[in-house]
Amino acid sequence: NWTTGNVIDEQVAAIRELVGDKRAICGLSGGVDSAVAAALVQKAIGSQLTCVYVDHGLMRKGETEQVEKDFVAATGVQLKVVDASERFLDALKGVSDPEEKRKIIGREFIRVFEQAQAEIIADEGPAVEFLVQGTLYPDVVESGGGTGTANIKSHHNVGGLPEDLEFKLIEPLRKLFKDEVRMVGQELGLPEEIVQRQPFPGPGLGIRIVGEVTKERLDLLREADAIAREELTAAGLDRDIWQCPVVLLADVRSVGVQGDGRTYGHPIVLRPVSSEDAMTADWSRLPYDVLAKISTRITNEVRDVNRVVLDVTSKPPGTIEWE
Ligand code: XMP
Repeated sequence: NWTTGNVIDEQVAAIRELVGDKRAICGLSGGVDSAVAAALVQKAIGSQLTCVYVDHGLMRKGETEQVEKDFVAATGVQLKVVDASERFLDALKGVSDPEEKRKIIGREFIRVFEQAQAEIIADEGPAVEFLVQGTLYPDVVESGGGTGTANIKSHHNVGGLPEDLEFKLIEPLRKLFKDEVRMVGQELGLPEEIVQRQPFPGPGLGIRIVGEVTKERLDLLREADAIAREELTAAGLDRDIWQCPVVLLADVRSVGVQGDGRTYGHPIVLRPVSSEDAMTADWSRLPYDVLAKISTRITNEVRDVNRVVLDVTSKPPGTIEWE
């Protein structure tokens, strides 16, 4: 019979046996899956695991600190943080096209991650033979690998390392669904904010700024997003919504009035949705008083934002993200 305790014990034993005295690495994204996978492997092999966190500067307020401080405190994991925010901003300079932004962020991410990987491999210490990934059961089924029982398959590195280097994959969540992963994470003592985190795209706030991504715009959006999240949490709505992208229309300005002056600022879009699997979604009917509070706070507290609008489009035809 299925219990989180059984799953953890089985995986810990299997991973220990598999890894032996070699080393493993794991990329952390700030998301639930990589965090729980890393925590499980850490429990099994301790300091033989090194985690890598690439800070691309596109995270929401407090998320990088959550990984660097809270996750490390909860697990004792050995973590290498690479602050690459300048590099990402440079690469994104002058780019407004969504697909181009995604390509650039993906490419830079792989480069930075592989450089960190190469540094770890070059360390003194046993050979790094394993790469940990937070693949879930639905991912396995989608990619047609649902019948296998092994939780190891080989994985060729995409570049930046010697050609013949091949990691063996450790995918300890391969048989689990998302809600089970959250339960395992909770049992492992991970912070609530990480275990219950709503979906957030890999390219982060980079695809929630319609227009060019700049440091100033990221700071504005981070503030607005933090206010929306805070008020949704305070209203007890976290479990009712699937996710709520907050989008800065950086290329749009509208006239407003504040105090006794005319303003010419940017709109912020709230995109709360309910969904089962993100394939389709409906816009969430949030209580008006919660929307009012978010709107008042954002326009009062976030410089250069003078308007808050609500996205009332379902998916299809609208996607959940704006880019
Ligand atoms: P869309 O906008 O396609 O989003 O309706 C569906 C779900 O996927 C998330 N999303 C991403 N997740 N990398 C990710 O890891 C991405 O590039 C990406 N783009 C969209 C989105 O937040 C939603 O949950």
